[in-house]
Amino acid sequence: TTSSSSEAIASESHSTDLTKHPTSEVSSETLLLYKNFWFRRQFVDRIKLLQVRFKARHDDIIIATNPKCGTTWLKALAFTITNRSRYDFSNHPLLTRHPQELVKTIDVEIPLNGDLTSIETLPSPRILATHMPFSLLPESIGIHGCRILYICRDPKDAFVSRWHFTNEVFTEKTDINVAFNKCCEGISDFGPFWDHCLEYWKESTGKPDRVLFLKYEDMMLEPVKFVKTLASFLGGPFSHEEEDAGVVEEVVRLCSFKTLSSLNNSETDVVERGYLAVKKSAYFRRGKVGDWVNHISDEMGRKLDYIVEEKLKGSGLVF
Ligand code: A3P
Repeated sequence: TTSSSSEAIASESHSTDLTKHPTSEVSSETLLLYKNFWFRRQFVDRIKLLQVRFKARHDDIIIATNPKCGTTWLKALAFTITNRSRYDFSNHPLLTRHPQELVKTIDVEIPLNGDLTSIETLPSPRILATHMPFSLLPESIGIHGCRILYICRDPKDAFVSRWHFTNEVFTEKTDINVAFNKCCEGISDFGPFWDHCLEYWKESTGKPDRVLFLKYEDMMLEPVKFVKTLASFLGGPFSHEEEDAGVVEEVVRLCSFKTLSSLNNSETDVVERGYLAVKKSAYFRRGKVGDWVNHISDEMGRKLDYIVEEKLKGSGLVF
C-alpha cells in the first residue's frame, strides 16, 4: 500500500561508481515513500528543505509536472511567452540555451545545505519548476497565491518516456516489465502518477485562476490555442497586433520539438542542473503521442489504462 505517511523502501539500491557518471549520485533503484508519494531519498531531503527555506513571491509562476510529461516544453513556452517583449526571435536565449537552464527546477536546484541563493537572486517575475505533488508544495506558494501551470500526459507515454530517461540519465538498466509492474502499483518517481495528477486536477477545478491544468496531447493537437491560453492565464494575453504579426505561431515554432531538439542534439553537451549534469539531447527523445505502442504490449497498455481509470473515477479527469 502507498497510504502510509511513513517512509518505506521500495527496493534495494545498487552500488555505483561516482567517478564515471555525473548523475550517479542518484543512480539507484531505491524509492522511498514519503507522505504518500515515492521519491529518491535525496528528493525527500530536498523537499523537506524547500518546505522550510523556499520563499515564494506573489508573482512567481510555478510549473508543476509529473516527470516526463512535458516539463521542458512548458518551460520553453512559459519563458518565451512571458519574455516576448524582451527578446527577438532571431536572437532568442532558446537558440543557445536549453530550457532546463533558463527555467530552474527548485527540487533539483536546492543543494543539501539548503542554500537557495541561485533562486533568491533571480529577478521577478520568476518562473520556477517543480515535480512536487501539490500536497507537499512549500506553504509559501499557497500563501502568496502563485499561479501554477500543471501539465500531465497519457500515463502509458509518460511511463515509456520515464523508462528511457531513467536508463539513460540515471544509468539504471531496469527491465521494462519490472518498471511497469512497479508503476502499476504506484511506485515511480514522484508517483503514484494518478495521485500526482489528481491533486493538481482538484486544485485546478476549485481555483481555475490559480492552477491551469494542461494535457500534453491537447497541446500537441492545438498548440496555437494553448499558447494563447497560457498567455492569458499568465496575465499577458496576445494583442491583436501580435496575433496579426504571427507572434503566436513564432512562439509555437521556437518551442516545438522539431526546433528545440535540433538546437540541442549534441551528444556531448550537458545541461548543469544543480547536482545533476544531463546530456542536453536526453530531454528530446521522440516527442510523439502514442509512442508507448512501440515499447509495451497492448495488454500492458490496457492494464495501466484500467488502473488509472479506476483511480480517477468520479474526479472528472480522464486520459
Ligand atoms: P518522449 O520521451 O516521449 O519523447 P519532460 O520535459 O517532462 O522531461 O518530458 C520529456 C518528454 O517531452 C519527452 O517525451 C520529450 O521528447 C518530450 N518533449 C520535449 N520537448 C518537447 C517539445 N518541445 N514538444 C513536445 N514534446 C517535447
